[in-house]
Amino acid sequence: MFRNARIETARTRLRPFTMADLAVFREIAGQEEVLEFLPDDRMTPAEAKRLLQWLIACYDEDTLERLVKFSLPIALRETGEVVGWVGLGPLDFDVAAIEIYFVISRAHWGKGYATEAARALLGYGFTVLGLPRVVGVVDRRNGASVRVLEKAGLRYERTVEGLPEAYRSYEGHLLYALTADEWTRRRLGNERRARDTT
Ligand SMILES: CC(C)(COP(=O)(O)OP(=O)(O)OC[C@H]1O[C@@H](n2cnc3c(N)ncnc32)[C@H](O)[C@@H]1OP(=O)(O)O)[C@@H](O)C(=O)NCCC(=O)NCCS
Repeated sequence: MFRNARIETARTRLRPFTMADLAVFREIAGQEEVLEFLPDDRMTPAEAKRLLQWLIACYDEDTLERLVKFSLPIALRETGEVVGWVGLGPLDFDVAAIEIYFVISRAHWGKGYATEAARALLGYGFTVLGLPRVVGVVDRRNGASVRVLEKAGLRYERTVEGLPEAYRSYEGHLLYALTADEWTRRRLGNERRARDTT
């Protein structure tokens, strides 16, 4: 379910990371534009390797009761090129909540890949993993990320405030959310509309 996850979208394939992805993982994770609104610092090559090893180890630790981190590279179906990744995991400052996150290589921004992958992973999260609710936390200046959350169906819930010192970097961020019930209702509505127009 985690180690063997395979999710197909119109243009992409989401599948587990392997160490063969290290070069592209390092390259994308080091891009200036990618890091602009993220809390992460630039990683050394050794840190990037350790992080990828950990993300891969997480596939064996993840359970339906407790997600540790579930990140999948986004590979183009036509060429196999990895253009970014998308994932689900506990929110830093509220580990009972599961957040969705996504990263796309600068050269591929604006092509709809993050939205396509996020929608597919949300569907997997609600139907296969049985998640009741998924949130997204975003720096309000990160317009592209806000837009991806909205297009994927999440709605603004609140501004993050009053966190303990250790989580100060999230202060003022926007919290978006989508429940499994809302996702199901929207999907059924879309299917009904599609039937009515054919
Ligand atoms: C956020 C990110 C993943 C978006 O990836 P992407 O594949 O380009 O996203 P999409 O093409 O699916 O959608 C982007 C949307 O944002 C819009 N957009 C782009 N820049 C924007 C801005 N500054 N303000 C408002 N909207 C913006 C695009 O027009 C598009 O919306 P549209 O389809 O209605 O035109 C990518 O920019 C990225 O990797 N950023 C760095 C990492 C990051 O911030 N990740 C999010 C944290 S969880």
